[in-house]
Amino acid sequence: MKLAISGKGGVGKTTLAALFAQIYTQAGRNVLAVDADPSPCLAGALGFPSELRSKLHPIAEMEDLIYERTGAKPGTIGGFFTLNPRVDDIPERFSVTHRGVRLLEMGAVDMGGSGCICPESALLKTLFTHLLFRKDDVLILDMYAGVEHLGRATVDFVDAMIIVVEPTRRSLGTAAQIKSLAEDIGLRRLWLVGNKVQNEEEASFLRSEATSLPLLGILPGDAGVQEADRLGMAVYDYVPALRQAAEKMVAVLDAQIAPQMG
Ligand SMILES: Nc1ncnc2c1ncn2[C@@H]1O[C@H](COP(=O)(O)OP(=O)(O)OP(=O)(O)O)[C@@H](O)[C@H]1O
Ligand SMILES: [Mg+2]
Repeated sequence: MKLAISGKGGVGKTTLAALFAQIYTQAGRNVLAVDADPSPCLAGALGFPSELRSKLHPIAEMEDLIYERTGAKPGTIGGFFTLNPRVDDIPERFSVTHRGVRLLEMGAVDMGGSGCICPESALLKTLFTHLLFRKDDVLILDMYAGVEHLGRATVDFVDAMIIVVEPTRRSLGTAAQIKSLAEDIGLRRLWLVGNKVQNEEEASFLRSEATSLPLLGILPGDAGVQEADRLGMAVYDYVPALRQAAEKMVAVLDAQIAPQMG
């Protein structure tokens, strides 16, 4: 299963991506978590120790690898390069694993939002599209905030997209834009997740306003999330309320997606 997590800046995409990655890992699934934000944060949210983090190098910065595999230098537009480079060894060679979660950083790559394809985006797209995932494997893509990058070529390989929202009209507005772009690229399985919800009033605001997409669940606002960040700990370990809420979402996702994927 390949899941993308999107939403407006700062709504909690990375927090949710880390929770899902650890929950699926705990359930015995093989998880590849991909940080697609040019300023990566997922390693921290997963509680990766700094010595492991220092071993992570974003794929987009690996000029030699990109050249070797595509025949073109990163950033090249036009000219000839391989559109289906060899990628099978990349997760193994370029990721680090902590407590069972394998993590890969993409770095700053234009994934073709504007329609152009450069060698590094060709490499990554091939990686995510053709990597042979076993049925039970899980890819979690923590996306760059906003909508600009969500072009045709971007995430058409995912099975489902989660759009994180805060209980505000603004973040629901961004969610609506993401929804329409996602539908343009043929993505049909979309869910909203409400985050930083402080009280029943905010929860019912989300339930009543977020009608154009199914609400997968709600994560409470909790000061522990920022404490966990300061302590370098995973929210999964530090804030049981969030972990439990996310576990319920994963159960719903599994019940709804897995049967359809056969
Ligand atoms: N449920 C929550 N309760 C309290 N604070 C939260 C909660 N979820 C996230 N936060 C805080 O909100 C901030 C943004 O969270 P996070 O980094 O997960 O969002 P993001 O959508 O990935 O942001 P960006 O767009 O910058 O990638 C962080 O400081 C995080 O600690
Ligand atoms: Mg983030």
